[in-house]
Amino acid sequence: MKRKNNTRLYVSLAIALPVVGASAVALAFPFGNSWMQPAHGVANNQILAHDVAGRAGGSGNWSTGSKMDRGLKCSHCHTDSPGVIDATIDFQPPITGGKYVPDTDYNITITLVNETKLPGNGVPTTLNGFALTFEGANGLRSGILKSDIPGVDSNSCPQQYPAMNPTNGTSYVYGNCNAIVFVPVPDTVVWYAGWRSPPAGSGSVKMWYAVVDGDHQGKSSLDDDVREAVVTYDEGP
Ligand code: HEC
Repeated sequence: MKRKNNTRLYVSLAIALPVVGASAVALAFPFGNSWMQPAHGVANNQILAHDVAGRAGGSGNWSTGSKMDRGLKCSHCHTDSPGVIDATIDFQPPITGGKYVPDTDYNITITLVNETKLPGNGVPTTLNGFALTFEGANGLRSGILKSDIPGVDSNSCPQQYPAMNPTNGTSYVYGNCNAIVFVPVPDTVVWYAGWRSPPAGSGSVKMWYAVVDGDHQGKSSLDDDVREAVVTYDEGP
């Protein structure tokens, strides 16, 4: 999936643009719908505005490193990252003592800290991103994963990503709904999401997350920085 030469990408985007009339923002790769597209490539002819024939997708793997994602991580493709960025995950209400309260709605703020891949060398904007999930010891999704768009969560589980990037939120949940992912908008370093913790008796959960600091407007995975982590939260009272 790694591309050494992006000539084909430019060509297909140049063709796609006038046809679908999509904005440059909507075409930022990875597109919101890339995560559920087949890993062997998109064979169809643009059912959605972002569909580019021949482009490989994530096949339902969100690269959080979780069991659900078969251990796949962003860093498997975003190679040689310098490892200088960080990410903070803030919960509201706060999670204290490493214990979540069962059946509780948490607002989550994901922040890319120490961004280094900033515009320059002719790159006018940067595209960053994240994926985050909660997984039980059974290797299954734990609780309800939520976008910051009301009604978009793993409970309602929209089958598809919208044809155009939503403008009323920063994250999305769809497809197999096994993770929350970023809505690709250049120059974004803060994303909002949510989690309803699982019912009492669910035991400890793992939060897997990853943040990518990109600098090529979605045209390369080779020189980005990555921060990946897993945090275990025990069940609280
Ligand atoms: C299977 C390989 C693969 C995995 C896994 C992967 N990516 Fe990517 N990503 C790519 C490729 C390839 C590109 C560049 C697009 C192109 O060349 O067409 C890219 C581009 C990006 C960009 C834009 C980078 C830039 O410089 O503009 C962001 C942001 C991004 N990915 C986020 C993520 C995040 C977050 C994860 C993990 C949750 C992830 N990616 C996992 C292959 C991958």
